[in-house]
Amino acid sequence: MREGQTSVIHRSDYQEPAFWIDSVDLCFDLDPAKTRVLNKMKMRRNPHVVPQALRLDGEELNLSRVLVNGQGTSFKMEDSQLVLENLPAGNDVFELEIFTTCAPAKNTKLSGLYTSGDSFYTQCEAEGFRRITYFLDRPDVMASYTVLLRADKSKYPVLLSNGNLVEQGTLDDGRHFAKWVDPFKKPSYLFALVAGQLVAREQRITSRAGKEHLLQVYVRPGDLDKTEHAMNSLMASVAWDEARFGLSLDLERFMIVATSDFNMGAMENKGLNIFNSKYVLANQATATDTDFGNIESVVGHEYFHNWTGNRITCRDWFQLSLKEGLTVFRDQEFSMDLASEASARAVKRIEDVRVLRTAQFPEDAGPMAHPIRPDQYLEINNFYTVTVYEKGAEVVRMQQTMVASGPSDPLGREGFRKGMDLYFQRHDGSAVTCDDFTQAIADANPDSKLAQLLPQFKRWYSQAGTPRVKAVGSFDGASGTYSLTLSQSCAPTPGQAVKEPFVIPISLGLISADGSEVASSMHVLTQESETLTFTGLQAEPVPSILRGFSAPVILDFAYTDEQLLALLEHDTDPFNRWEAGQRLALNRMMAFISQDALAVADMKLDARYIEAMRSVLRHPKLDAAFKELALTLPSETYVAEQLDVVDPQRIHAVREALRAQLATALHADWEWAFEAHHENGAYKPDSLSSGRRALTGLALAMLCIAARTSGDTVWPGKALQRFKDAGNMTDRFNALAALVTSGSDLAAQALQRFHAMFKDEALVIDKWFALQAGATDRGGNILPIVKQLMTHPDFSMRNPNRARSVIFSYCSANPGAFHRADAAGYVFWSDKVIELDAINPQVAARLARALDRWKKLAEPMRSAAREAIARVAAKPDLSNDTREVVTRALS
Ligand code: PHE
Ligand code: ZN
Repeated sequence: MREGQTSVIHRSDYQEPAFWIDSVDLCFDLDPAKTRVLNKMKMRRNPHVVPQALRLDGEELNLSRVLVNGQGTSFKMEDSQLVLENLPAGNDVFELEIFTTCAPAKNTKLSGLYTSGDSFYTQCEAEGFRRITYFLDRPDVMASYTVLLRADKSKYPVLLSNGNLVEQGTLDDGRHFAKWVDPFKKPSYLFALVAGQLVAREQRITSRAGKEHLLQVYVRPGDLDKTEHAMNSLMASVAWDEARFGLSLDLERFMIVATSDFNMGAMENKGLNIFNSKYVLANQATATDTDFGNIESVVGHEYFHNWTGNRITCRDWFQLSLKEGLTVFRDQEFSMDLASEASARAVKRIEDVRVLRTAQFPEDAGPMAHPIRPDQYLEINNFYTVTVYEKGAEVVRMQQTMVASGPSDPLGREGFRKGMDLYFQRHDGSAVTCDDFTQAIADANPDSKLAQLLPQFKRWYSQAGTPRVKAVGSFDGASGTYSLTLSQSCAPTPGQAVKEPFVIPISLGLISADGSEVASSMHVLTQESETLTFTGLQAEPVPSILRGFSAPVILDFAYTDEQLLALLEHDTDPFNRWEAGQRLALNRMMAFISQDALAVADMKLDARYIEAMRSVLRHPKLDAAFKELALTLPSETYVAEQLDVVDPQRIHAVREALRAQLATALHADWEWAFEAHHENGAYKPDSLSSGRRALTGLALAMLCIAARTSGDTVWPGKALQRFKDAGNMTDRFNALAALVTSGSDLAAQALQRFHAMFKDEALVIDKWFALQAGATDRGGNILPIVKQLMTHPDFSMRNPNRARSVIFSYCSANPGAFHRADAAGYVFWSDKVIELDAINPQVAARLARALDRWKKLAEPMRSAAREAIARVAAKPDLSNDTREVVTRALS
């Protein structure tokens, strides 16, 4: 039988808790089969709420004793809540003592207390603490924690929890103990403990403020040589938050622990961050440049939560974007600031926008669309979404933009800093709402656009859906006037039929015929439609609209090829320069896709486009990372979003065909790019050298793709050689991927060798699985490969990283192979959702989202997809997580 609530929770139903918990004293006797938990709480009634029974959340716990002020008491169970009706009247503090046991080794959901390998870990966000003990498991109940851990000393030599270690020692029977006290009050979702055989890289630092701190990164013995980058990233994070926001580390000790079994990326538990090992472990032999970059940003993200999330937390889970949108914004800025060169900042911005547009825009247009501050949920775990995170970060970014005060603070950084200062002044130590945040930013900048438009701006928090901005330009030669009419609209989303106009900051520039910039400004669009006029122009300019992607909207402008070529060549805004290249490619892809009768062999790229791409590739000033982004065609998912009816195989075939043409037409240029950028010196993960590796990787892939058409064997041979000789994982994996992507005969032996080389490196084996499950489909061959991979001895359904590496790489990241006319991909998907749901509902529900956009599919896929979803929905006993996703998909 399932436990817990099965009905929808509404934001408007928020009520303060009827009781407060001042302090918690926890004592754990750790044992994988049966862990005993003694929880002593000091509690009192909340005088603002009418007297009522105490209802404590609990899930999968065995209760053995409840005492109030040391005395036995009556209690009852209701829907897995522990209900106490006879508590002392009045507002005095009382002590509630609860003794329970749980079974960490059986906890395959990885929420609450669980074992991974031979160690114990916890995951309490959002509602995992109730799987450890009965509690008021909600973020607005903030308490002081003291934690005593007891366990076998030889099996669990390291015992960690939040805060400071105040006592440790040995006990009878080979056991030992450690006592931890967290000096800060916190909500239960930030509780953590870790116990096991772990080793740590340590670093002592002195903060700007002159305080000493100990930083530690805990991993399994044998992984220490992969912790240097995480430690460097942590030190950089500490320094950055002090420099940019004046926020210092508030703890003597700050710990990161890596685990290989984790549902998400990482978790910001106070002073004891727990990470998916994917975002900690890296050295040049096992990790790619992308991994290095991800580690830097996730380490930063979790560290930054210490202030934005922990010191100030969320009043309720509807406010999740308060901490997540803000902290993503902060980690994005951190990565950009570390990248220092302007071009590397732009590259990071392009990458972030690409994620937003390929993952968040579809979410916002599909059955799971929700505002960044949702109004309802069945299962909160389903709302850790790209909308709450990435769109939430864009909404924070717009607030920064809209407190800019002119030339002295063009980006709004200073105004935003003032707003953050006020936010901490007002709310440090409390649990607040998204409204509290925007109010603080606006109040600190009373003359800003944000302050003037605050009520309307807040629609970004309440309305779902991606706004569309249509721009139309017209030039009057006689008066030298250019007018640009901007109109906004937003399609209905589930539960929101009509949208009110948004506040949309639009960064603009005008480029003249000779390529020089003749105007640049920031316009804040508030009406449904507005017209801007620019005077004193000699000739019709080319508008560069939405520079830097200044708002999370879809921009419609009927650019001609000439205009796009001008922007690609001359725009001073690197984002729009990249965007011009993407539009040139997209227009061509769309044209080919829509001509139903056109055979793939007859889709010929025009010389103009090819020449434009050649000049980007050969450009003397542009840097390699930018070139790699500009020469990569828009993804299949992004293209699908532009269409009303989607045939994923057609999109795939068109993209493949155009890529092959670019490969062949620019053959000599790819050769040049490969030779000119590949380096043999020592590996450095900085942005310049990683950009060069990215471009050589693309060049090699293109040369192998061209070889497939021409029959050339030289480049595949070179790729194999490079795969063997590579001095780092980036080059090695790119070479392997080039062979696999191009369908080379040499791929099989390289894959085999790769597995043999890295069989003991779980994170590398994940890449090995993912590459094969995500490979180009050739005549429907990928699904059988995926099924075969799942019988491999290294495959496991229980390890989320491994399950994702095969199943998600196929169902979510390989549309051309997944959407089969025979529906076999969907049958596979429904089997795996059901199978995973019994093991780990959070992972299952994420997989369930792979068919979010089924309504756009062309027949017969559309009907087959609906049938597969219905099949999952018909399963009795589905978790709330998966049930919510499939029910919404069918509605
Ligand atoms: N709060 C975590 C983060 O954003 C994400 C997370 C959510 C991790 C839920 C685990 C469980 O960094
Ligand atoms: Zn976060």
